[in-house]
Amino acid sequence: VKHLLGIKYITKEDIDLIFQTADNFKEVINRPIKKVPSLRDITIANLFFENSTRTKLSFELAEKRLSADVINFSAAASSVKKGETLIDTVNNILSMKVDMVVMRHPNPGAGVFLSKHINASIVNAGDGAHEHPTQALLDSYSIRERLGDVGGKNVVIVGDILHSRVALSNIYALKLQGANVKVCGPKTLMPKYIESLGVEVELNLRKALEWCDVANMLRVQNERMDISYFPSTREYTQQYGVDKALLNSLDKEIVIMHPGPINRGVEITSDVADSDQAIILNQVENGVAVRMAVLYLLASKIKQ
Ligand code: CP
Repeated sequence: VKHLLGIKYITKEDIDLIFQTADNFKEVINRPIKKVPSLRDITIANLFFENSTRTKLSFELAEKRLSADVINFSAAASSVKKGETLIDTVNNILSMKVDMVVMRHPNPGAGVFLSKHINASIVNAGDGAHEHPTQALLDSYSIRERLGDVGGKNVVIVGDILHSRVALSNIYALKLQGANVKVCGPKTLMPKYIESLGVEVELNLRKALEWCDVANMLRVQNERMDISYFPSTREYTQQYGVDKALLNSLDKEIVIMHPGPINRGVEITSDVADSDQAIILNQVENGVAVRMAVLYLLASKIKQ
């Protein structure tokens, strides 16, 4: 595999290898000297055509921990604003002898499109409402770390499934690893094809939480919606928001995840986000080791 464009294009064996490699890197980044020389001769461009905090910083840190040379590009401060196309932008960057591209883009399929026009290895850091493969990998890695395994676990993905690249990549990754997956949220935020992916739809939040071992609480993506997507934020929170009282009323302690950024008080309250049941910051921590593993494994193909 030369690129990581989506979880749809990889196998269970690929995920196992990424996690074994991430285990080694997690040990490395917890040492006093956090760097390894593995990618000393590799140059990576981080191309962000859409805003990011976690993914951008996590990739940059992963690359630096692997001793790669790193350049960062943010569309908002670039010649994209003067009308330069995606292919021209990337080809200009690649002509400076760049080996790998990490790209976030608002258009679904942007990474797949680019992979047909350039030679460099591409890692999809989120393409519109399509996929966010490294988020799904770090999410599964964090479930494995907390519960010992992903296979056989009941995982519910809650919220705005329709606009969520995190949901789609998580569904592919969880199903590959043998988890049972349900999605829960308002009908208007549920894609029509969802059941064809082998997941069950549960519209009732309490029933979903009673069933699950893990609840992955998605952000409501207001920026990808128009006014026709009911319910309102207030109605959404009443029906699909999780607070500590709701968690305490369940007869078991479930694990709470969130990809960030959190709308505190909308998807989850602060007393849930900051509780021991939540592994939200563990997800962020694990993102660096998982991304190191992805970059290391893809770079080994370039070096062959
Ligand atoms: N989880 C995630 O992709 O966060 P950012 O948008 O801040 O990168």
